Amino acid sequence: MRLDVVTIFPEYLSPLDLSLIGKAREQGLIDLRVHDLRDFTHDRHRTVDDTPYGGGAGMVMRPEPWGEALDHLMATGVPGEVPHLLIPAPGGVPFTQAMAQELATQPWLAFACGRYEGIDERVIDHAETLMPVTVVSLGDYVLNGGEVAVLAIVEAIARLVPGVIGNADSLVEESHEDGLLEYPMFTKPPLWRGHGIPEVLLSGHHGLIARWRRDERLRRTAARRPDMIARLDPSDLDARDLEVLAEVAEVAEVAEVASSVMQTSKVAQFQADPPAVAD
Ligand code: ADE
Repeated sequence: MRLDVVTIFPEYLSPLDLSLIGKAREQGLIDLRVHDLRDFTHDRHRTVDDTPYGGGAGMVMRPEPWGEALDHLMATGVPGEVPHLLIPAPGGVPFTQAMAQELATQPWLAFACGRYEGIDERVIDHAETLMPVTVVSLGDYVLNGGEVAVLAIVEAIARLVPGVIGNADSLVEESHEDGLLEYPMFTKPPLWRGHGIPEVLLSGHHGLIARWRRDERLRRTAARRPDMIARLDPSDLDARDLEVLAEVAEVAEVAEVASSVMQTSKVAQFQADPPAVAD
């Protein structure tokens, strides 16, 4: 897989020399090329930004260096092949595991790291005439630029490329692979600072262990990500799954009832005894 990253901070991407991704690059599984956007400028100051039309705070990345950078990428590719361009930005579509899986099957991805208030919109419009383009967001928060997002996105994608992770089995039961979060994991020692491990994990009974792990995945997902529970396909749930979900729903319901009782009693108290208003 070929990956190109265009940035004004090439050193920001140096963690991609390390660990599994670094090894995959050495093995030739991933061909990662980092480009300095300023190499596509022609003025003495290597300017990449300017003030926004219409006014407002901050600076906007000028389109010309981006246009030349994209031309350069296209000129160095296999004739007729184009990359899928990903532009990280807080206003993008949410980046998900499903997207990582789809992108991991592509032969060529390019990343445009914006800084300041973003890239002149015409760069996106122009790129869309040449290649598939997706503006992606890591989450509902704002980073200073796309570089940190690219590190995360490249890692999420590259580890799904066949051969990058030695033990492909470890990819199967991960959080987000099948709509549930991962079960808790334990290793030695069996007793640590007074904390033991769940007895069932010592039983050697594979069926019981698998069931316990699924129960924990359901409980954890209900507690941390109720939005994911709501998206489960009911036909994927067996009778025990429904029992576990009913248990946690009961707790949630109790909490909900308790909070609504509190609210009602506060309102009733307010109505019965309104606080004095100062003149
Ligand atoms: N650039 C700035 N904020 C970002 C975010 N939340 N996700 C992706 N890229 C970004």
